[in-house]
Amino acid sequence: MTTFGPDFVFGSATASYQIEGAVAEDGRGPSIWDTYSHTPGATEYGDTGDVACDHYHRWREDVGHIAALGLDAYRLSIAWPRVQPTGRGPLNPAGVRFYRDLLDALTAAGVQPLVTLYHWDLPQELEDAGGWANRDTAFAFADYARAMAQELGDRVHTWTTLNEPWCTAYLGYASGVHAPGRTEPATALAAVHHLNLAHGLAVQAIREVLPDARCSVTLNFHVLRAADPADPEDADAVRQIDAVANRAFTGPMLEGAYPEDLIADTAAITDWSFVRDGDLAVVHQPLTALGVNYYSTTMVRRAPEGDATSDNSGHRESAASPWVGADRVAFVREPGPYTAMGWNIAPEALTELLLDLHRRYPTLPTVVTENGAAFEDEVSPDGRVHDPRRVSYLHDHIAAVAAARERGADVRGYFAWSLLDNFEWAWGYARRFGIIRVDYDTLERTWKGSAHWYARLTRTRELPA
Ligand code: NOJ
Repeated sequence: MTTFGPDFVFGSATASYQIEGAVAEDGRGPSIWDTYSHTPGATEYGDTGDVACDHYHRWREDVGHIAALGLDAYRLSIAWPRVQPTGRGPLNPAGVRFYRDLLDALTAAGVQPLVTLYHWDLPQELEDAGGWANRDTAFAFADYARAMAQELGDRVHTWTTLNEPWCTAYLGYASGVHAPGRTEPATALAAVHHLNLAHGLAVQAIREVLPDARCSVTLNFHVLRAADPADPEDADAVRQIDAVANRAFTGPMLEGAYPEDLIADTAAITDWSFVRDGDLAVVHQPLTALGVNYYSTTMVRRAPEGDATSDNSGHRESAASPWVGADRVAFVREPGPYTAMGWNIAPEALTELLLDLHRRYPTLPTVVTENGAAFEDEVSPDGRVHDPRRVSYLHDHIAAVAAARERGADVRGYFAWSLLDNFEWAWGYARRFGIIRVDYDTLERTWKGSAHWYARLTRTRELPA
């Protein structure tokens, strides 16, 4: 039995495009995910976020679930095109009011709101002007962040600039399995930098308005394994993917520099001239916490020229690779068990990751801002959803967090992904991550076994062995 003290935060997370629906209501502008999901063939079954969980209309009910689950905190994202329809210029008062009311209801329920400013729904007009390939997008993002700090102020407990910029840059601009669906490797690296810049500018902008604001960023760390740990070539493949996937973000954001090996590995693709004098000082802002999203591990080996395999695990197939500059890396399927995403389950790697981050950034607390699993849930004849595999996934990963804390890592919280079944990007509604089931015909919410289990944990703060 592990006991979590009162300061440890248990929460759950969602994202705007995945749950809100109401994409054309009350002045919301179109986002790149509206465009992408309406593109034939882009998503499984042609699913879109047009209705999603209809959270825009059912948010009061959802806050009721959050309160009943006994969550200390709730992580949501703001749809930029809902509050600023074209990504520049005047705000949309109805959009701002929606988030203000939601934040007030959470606070009234005793729930801390963590707000992510960018969980992938870029206003379409900004993509039309070049998207994250265009440096101006970073400045537009900072203006939007400043406006949100002014409008929402201390209603927000912690601000998160970006969610998983790896996905935005590499899935959006290199493999094209996420919006905007571009397959341009050099552009993906420009996007990496402009996202990093956007993060730094946004932290500065928020703190201009709210000097004591708690600011963070959420990264999806790739925990890498060498197929043959004794083979130096495989170790080098690990190094290479670590550079392009992890250190491309932690380098500038947390250390103020791009890794030299990343620049060298990608020299044939770009000269990195999009990094201008003074940018790195802007990107490198003091943060209150680092958000960590973790689901599974990644195994690689060195491959001979022309024999590399792209890693599409969990992403829909694409002829293009997200792994810019890593032409000689092959991805090896990990041993199971697996979730419905085909992702291997490896809770011990979360302990390792949290300890490693603590070792590298000893003064920076971490928060697990996402962890969870998709399984093929079934509704029993009695109407209940028994999801013991999700319960054990959550249990084992929370135990992994506890193990990291016992060994000294400063982990402040854990957020289960997700509160609700929702629009799983290119997989549409075909993958269910919720602890609460959503019936997409009736939009009715039903607590799964995992929700009951999580509510017991938040109440007792004791994790059974
Ligand atoms: C990471 C993303 O932030 C979230 O939007 C997604 O649904 C989950 N992982 C599961 O893939």
